[in-house]
Amino acid sequence: MLLALESSCDETSAAVVHDGRVLANVVSSQIKLHAEYGGVVPELATREHLRNLLPVAQSALRAAQPVAAVCDRRSEDGRRSQSAAKDIDAIAATIGPGLPQALMIGARAAQAMAFALRKPFFGIHHHEAHLYSPWVTTANPKPETRNAKLQSDFSTFQPNVSLIVSGGHTMLVFVEAELKHHLLGSTVDDAAGECFDKAAKLMGLPYPGGPELDALAEQGDPRAFDFPRPMIRDLHDDFSFSGLKTSVRYFLRDQPFVLDDPDLVRDLCASVRAAIVDVLVTKTVRAAKRLGVRCVTASGGVTCNRALRKQLAEACAQNSLTLRLADKSLCTDNAAMVGILAERKLQRGTAPTSFDEEVKPSWPLVG
Ligand code: KG4
Ligand code: ZN
Repeated sequence: MLLALESSCDETSAAVVHDGRVLANVVSSQIKLHAEYGGVVPELATREHLRNLLPVAQSALRAAQPVAAVCDRRSEDGRRSQSAAKDIDAIAATIGPGLPQALMIGARAAQAMAFALRKPFFGIHHHEAHLYSPWVTTANPKPETRNAKLQSDFSTFQPNVSLIVSGGHTMLVFVEAELKHHLLGSTVDDAAGECFDKAAKLMGLPYPGGPELDALAEQGDPRAFDFPRPMIRDLHDDFSFSGLKTSVRYFLRDQPFVLDDPDLVRDLCASVRAAIVDVLVTKTVRAAKRLGVRCVTASGGVTCNRALRKQLAEACAQNSLTLRLADKSLCTDNAAMVGILAERKLQRGTAPTSFDEEVKPSWPLVG
């Protein structure tokens, strides 16, 4: 069994995984704390991680226990203890990229635990972990393992183009094989989630505005207002969303009355959402076709967006591409994806990370 920790931004999370199954995945979100400031405040995030990390880890270990006990009864040597903590074979944590002090809380705790238990430690790249969350699916749980609802399925793994899209990052990655990937492109300015959040803020919606804007957009007309689709025709795989955010600002400066009419607000939300989603879908599918892969995956908070899920599904179907979207519970930051990746590394003989490895706040994604 492997214990994984994630604390790179504003979610404190711990997960226990075993043989590709997520036995427990506990996430403590700080969204409410940061909402008051309209964005993540690093100092507050650090304090919250410090306060929550050990309770979250304990609760993951406790939640994993009933499932671990079933594994015990099945295990050949029958020597496994009822205590999940005693059964830990390795410990992993996100060590970058992310907020330096926030990363340090999870990484140092994991390194100390691994040192004390004399188990290997795996320092995981946050974006690399996102690449594996679409391969974790909601299993049809058997009664005796009902806690293990999430299970990875690498038997169907194919080379893929992976879209990682959240508040902090927007990138396209060519995943050539398991544990082998190349960054194709990323945003040159704002991330797509940031654009959703900033556009929502201009409309007076509460933080984080992405989900609110998405909900309102469901009732609006995406063709009501025409917003730019930045870089949609460019053949490279980079993105740019700050210009789109600026056009929403100018739109509202010139037509402030739109905000007084709920129908127009819904149309505005739908039109902004359509612009962002069109760019993401067009560039993702184009990259997949260019590289000749048959599979597209997507993860990160913005992958919860209804229009993105729907349009990606339609575009992939039209182009005979298999689509794997991260389960909604695993789109936002979580330790399950960190654990699933770390366990693959452990099983494939990847060398563990040193106990005194430093965190890497700006760690680039390389293969
Ligand atoms: O992955 P995540 O939890 O954190 C990082 O930024 O790393 O993603 C959070 C982002 C926020 O910008 C949030 O507004 C956006 O994901 N988001 C959405 C939706 N749900 C979350 N954006 C658009 N539509 C949604 N339904
Ligand atoms: Zn993330």
